Amino acid sequence: KANSGLKDFLHINDFEKATILNILERAKEIKALIKSGERTYLPFKGKTMAMIFAKPSMRTRVSFETGFNLLGGHAVYLGPDDIQMGKREETRDVARVLSGYNDVIMARLFAHQDILDLAKYATVPVINGLTDYNHPCQIMADALTIIEHIGQLEGTKVVYVGDGNNIVHSWLLLASIVPFHFVCACPKGFEPDQETVKKAQQTGVSKIEIIHDPKEAVRGADVVYSDVWASMGQKEEAAYRRQVFQGFQVDEELMKVAGPKAYFMHCLPAERGVEVTDGVIEAPNSIVFPQAENRMHAQNAIMLHVLGV
Ligand code: CP
Ligand code: NVA
Repeated sequence: KANSGLKDFLHINDFEKATILNILERAKEIKALIKSGERTYLPFKGKTMAMIFAKPSMRTRVSFETGFNLLGGHAVYLGPDDIQMGKREETRDVARVLSGYNDVIMARLFAHQDILDLAKYATVPVINGLTDYNHPCQIMADALTIIEHIGQLEGTKVVYVGDGNNIVHSWLLLASIVPFHFVCACPKGFEPDQETVKKAQQTGVSKIEIIHDPKEAVRGADVVYSDVWASMGQKEEAAYRRQVFQGFQVDEELMKVAGPKAYFMHCLPAERGVEVTDGVIEAPNSIVFPQAENRMHAQNAIMLHVLGV
């Protein structure tokens, strides 16, 4: 794969800053094209994509399938019962079989090691559609949304409030190559992976803070970002987490502390009344729906990049 010019998209910091900014620039162009109603740009014509989902999804599934289709390709959805990677069949076998039929593989999995193995054995590009460790396509869409609303990502203050989860890891990996101010406010014991934090801080690219006081965190924020307290695979911990995460709900009061310029973002799905209030999601400065739409546009640009078209 390395010699063919084809690439995987597994972590944002596998790429240079210039490449990431180029992909985002391309996303804007293709978005404008698609929004204009233009349907003659078909770079994926004759190409097929296998989409493996070990977990549920709305945005990832529909945005990848629709985006690939709008640009001429055909996507095949494989749900949790279809492949059962590692259970019905070994990952390295899945990788090689699907590579025989498809030009690209997108996968949403539990263990991060599984996507690394999939990419290792696949002879076509593999795109990470979320693992327990990270969610790079989401954070690319988020960066695109911030650029559209604020003008640029560089120099902005992005404050994530909640669990130090896969979303936070992707923010940290982005902060390792593009300079901005990233703050994660989480309860003690729910910090993001220490090694990832350390490595991101050691790059010296961005100001990165992991703190435990949401009010202190959000002061002067350009973006306040929230995600569920119990991720997919942790749902049995939901009740316990609701207790531990008291005080980490993004509500009207916290948005007031952030200030009038602060946008609210959430990768969705959201549990209204838990990690965020209904009022904050519905407020005029909430950009969660443009953010969700941008999944498709960012991913179209990612697919063009990994396929070298
Ligand atoms: N944000 C996101 O990845 O949503 P889905 O789980 O619906 O794909
Ligand atoms: N952290 C969440 C993100 C969902 C898009 C999860 O992994 O379930």
